[in-house]
Amino acid sequence: MKNSEVKPTWLFGYGSLIYKVDFPYLRSEQASITGWQRRFWQGSQDHRGTPEQPGRVVTLVPAAKVVCKGIAYLVENSVFDHLDHREKNGYQRLEIDIALLNEQQKVSGILYVADEHNPAYLGAARIRDIAAHIAGSHGPSGSNRDYVLQLAEALRDLGDMDPHVFKLESLLRSNNTLQTETARV
Ligand code: BEZ
Repeated sequence: MKNSEVKPTWLFGYGSLIYKVDFPYLRSEQASITGWQRRFWQGSQDHRGTPEQPGRVVTLVPAAKVVCKGIAYLVENSVFDHLDHREKNGYQRLEIDIALLNEQQKVSGILYVADEHNPAYLGAARIRDIAAHIAGSHGPSGSNRDYVLQLAEALRDLGDMDPHVFKLESLLRSNNTLQTETARV
């Protein structure tokens, strides 16, 4: 079956897909998923770091009852070819139930998640160490710091006061101490 013959699919964005929308979509809605939380535990060798010095980007980890807000996009299937390439550094598609805010209904959809089995995974660290790592990382898509600040801004607009992301934002905005720590991480 050709991509164009497959029904449009809901895609849930919780990270850069909220603010970097470089794909066409038919509809977008504020939305949420339950049972997952954001963590800057995924290494980035191709966007916010390099293979020699990977940055840290967001993924989701299971967390009972935690609600993660984001944006759901209704997309044609061909969009996944583009996104599979954009997110090729460890992310895989996962089927998920998505609650659409305005329609008060659940739909089945797809999100991208990078779990601990991918080779670029970095895993947990102390929040100050994660912030120091991010403060010193850059890649072809820009600085790792800007990735966090843009995400925090987008989450503020959505009303998702994610403690992990906002702690990183606050550490990065007062980054005098982080710069000295970067040399030691
Ligand atoms: C997202 O915004 O949903 C997303 C974040 C990281 C990788 C892929 C997708």
